[in-house]
Amino acid sequence: MNLSSPDVSPPDQALVSPAVQPCDHPQQNPLKIGIMASGTGSNFVAIADAISQQHLAAQIQLVIYNNPNAPVADRARERGIPAALLNHRDFSQREAFDQQIVDLLHTADVEWVVMVGWMRRVTHVLIDAFPDRIINIHPSLLPSFPGIRAIEQAIEYGVTISGCTVHIVRLEVDSGPILMQAAVPVHPEDTPTSLHHRIQVQEHDIIIQAIAQIAQPHTSHNLLTHRH
Ligand code: GRF
Repeated sequence: MNLSSPDVSPPDQALVSPAVQPCDHPQQNPLKIGIMASGTGSNFVAIADAISQQHLAAQIQLVIYNNPNAPVADRARERGIPAALLNHRDFSQREAFDQQIVDLLHTADVEWVVMVGWMRRVTHVLIDAFPDRIINIHPSLLPSFPGIRAIEQAIEYGVTISGCTVHIVRLEVDSGPILMQAAVPVHPEDTPTSLHHRIQVQEHDIIIQAIAQIAQPHTSHNLLTHRH
């Protein structure tokens, strides 16, 4: 795949890594996921809709959010999905905050954790409770542009291709084995808002593909060994 030549695909069409076929029988033994988010919730909505349309063999047990005004909470509740506010400002230590998150996820019987717009650093407390079972979506082609200014930096740097990445969460911010990526062209007139909007369209696609891949029986056990 030649990512250096935008002419190989229409400008707004992403170059997506190979698609995963959704499960044929999504009702059987769905993967129990917990969502951690603090934004508008567009990725959450994409996941929830894919599940309700039976395109994804998963079940959202719980949404945890840390911003009291996060719209994702309303998006969850209007779908009858429990949403729990855990405000990091109520905790003096990151580890204590993460322990509370772990307790909620365990109580909700969560198997895999999906971060979609979780803007907090995580500690070993969370990582150790769900070893290699936490995924995150990030709005760049990692390892380029980790951190919270990924979209602005991509524009400032002048890259002509950016995109989004789903990866396993490790202690270092936006590191960890990459599960899925989609490339998105950067236009000369792009602002952070316009580029983010185009990237998010692809995020909604690859986060569903990544969860589908994890949810496939026998696949999840081998997911990482194939990627080292
Ligand atoms: C996404 O663009 C994701 O890449 C970033 O946070 C954003 C969350 O968006 N980490 P939304 O709340 O799902 O709309």
